[in-house]
Amino acid sequence: MEGLSLYDRIGGEETLRLLTDRFYDHVFAHELISRLFKSNKDEIKEKQRLFLTQFLGGPALYSEVFGHPRLRARHIPHTITEEDAIAWLTCMDRAISALTISDELKKELFGRFPQSALFMVNS
Ligand code: HEM
Repeated sequence: MEGLSLYDRIGGEETLRLLTDRFYDHVFAHELISRLFKSNKDEIKEKQRLFLTQFLGGPALYSEVFGHPRLRARHIPHTITEEDAIAWLTCMDRAISALTISDELKKELFGRFPQSALFMVNS
């Protein structure tokens, strides 16, 4: 599988649909961070699926629709603490754990998030 993107190796679109579905179920139920999510759950799931597709090396679906991600700037309107980032990562870890991919791939996939999550901390 050398040369294939992480997006392809985890199973592409089907896996990302499952992942974003479960991830936001955890986020919207989370006692600390659910307060931050005010828009429609299906819309944010879909935005995140488009974003993660390109973030993991698949086609640039998010940018085709929304332009440059500028993720830190897009998060500025939301007050995000380090504690929120850790909660976000915990939700992602749980969603990744439930996927039917190898433990090695789970580890590699989760490893893509901590740095970006801490980068969104703005309070
Ligand atoms: C550090 C913890 C994080 C918190 C608390 C957080 C919170 C939020 C919130 C509140 C929104 C707006 C949701 C809405 O419209 O209701 C959002 C949007 C978004 N977040 Fe995060 N986020 C975090 C980290 C991340 C990370 C690490 C990524 C990517 C790897 C990410 C990707 C996105 C994307 C793609 C959107 C949609 C942006 C748009 O087009 O409007 N977020 N996030």
